[in-house]
Amino acid sequence: MSRTPAERSVTSDVLVVGGGIIGLVTAWRAAQRGFATTVVDPEPGGGAAQVAAGMLAAVTELHYGEQTLLGLNLASARRYPDFVAELTEAAGQDLGYRRCGTLAVALDSDDRAHLRELHALQIRSGLDSEWLSGRECRRLEPMLAPGVRGGLRVDGDHQIDPRRLAKALVTACERAGVVFHRGWAERLTVVRDRATGVVTAAGDGLEAARVVLAGGSLSGRLDGVPDDVRPPVRPVKGQVLRLTVPKRYAPFLSRTVRAVVRGSQVYLVPRESGELVVGATSEELGWDTTVTAGGVYELLRDAHELVPGITELPLTETRAGLRPGSPDNAPLLGPTGLDGLLLATGHHRNGVLLTPVTGDVMAHVLASGEVPEEARPFTPHRFSPTRTEQPV
Ligand code: GLY
Repeated sequence: MSRTPAERSVTSDVLVVGGGIIGLVTAWRAAQRGFATTVVDPEPGGGAAQVAAGMLAAVTELHYGEQTLLGLNLASARRYPDFVAELTEAAGQDLGYRRCGTLAVALDSDDRAHLRELHALQIRSGLDSEWLSGRECRRLEPMLAPGVRGGLRVDGDHQIDPRRLAKALVTACERAGVVFHRGWAERLTVVRDRATGVVTAAGDGLEAARVVLAGGSLSGRLDGVPDDVRPPVRPVKGQVLRLTVPKRYAPFLSRTVRAVVRGSQVYLVPRESGELVVGATSEELGWDTTVTAGGVYELLRDAHELVPGITELPLTETRAGLRPGSPDNAPLLGPTGLDGLLLATGHHRNGVLLTPVTGDVMAHVLASGEVPEEARPFTPHRFSPTRTEQPV
């Protein structure tokens, strides 16, 4: 029997489209502020967090031209300890947060020059980062290849297990009274120039005072969103491997180890559980999530150059996911030019890192109608200047 939206309509204060970690943290924080909140997603807790390695790498992933983003990344990194404590308590689950630091190393003279440049940029930006010789790097991490030429010790770049983070956010949302509608949001409903909800693929109508579009790489694909406020988000494929460190090899690595090898990033993220995550490719291939022999080969080849012993470890999983890339690699946070529609998307390489600050920013916007100071450079308005921002 077919249903019309009117036959099954649910009304909320806040409707979050997308139940990845960004949508979930927004919903959790909104519910804590007393808003009746619904999340629409076929599989809450899924999305890019199921693939991501979970590095909290504000300092080691600093890039030229991204100094404004650095401010937001650092603001979120500072919130992490309290965020983890609060979420652990709220969900009653361990998040795999590990304050282990990161070592970024160079394998040849080109990599070394690259790392020297990064170090200079970090120091100019007032960040804590220490240059180490190859010998000092190997003293810290004895499994490193003998040829390591030097590296940067960054004790403030930590890690979390994104799968545990996503699971805990689902539980915390449930406990805070968030309603989950398991299905695909198909179309934004716009009535008299105001977003009023969505219609799902099953034909259900979900109505809300405000709609937050937090659909990760899919954020630009919701039907009904006017072109001039549609988020300019594209999928950026990342292939990631998971290996297991048998107990007899532990501790294989004591911190995250990363490098740029022939221009490609490779990182090894060791979890306390014995999982070792190796990532990640960065490929502009549209909606393709195929794990390719070439992707796996390149990751293993580069990781092996860095840590030769890796080839002894069982390879337990290969997976590809899609980062939500924006034109300036920074997120879109806050109200759009369409009344009632807000965005929390475009987090690209930094979704896990930016989860705490995103939750706080979105809750602040929903509660006060104001974008907090730290998020002002990241409003969607920067990509649709012809529309004026609407009151929330
Ligand atoms: N931040 C790590 C990645 O996007 O691969």
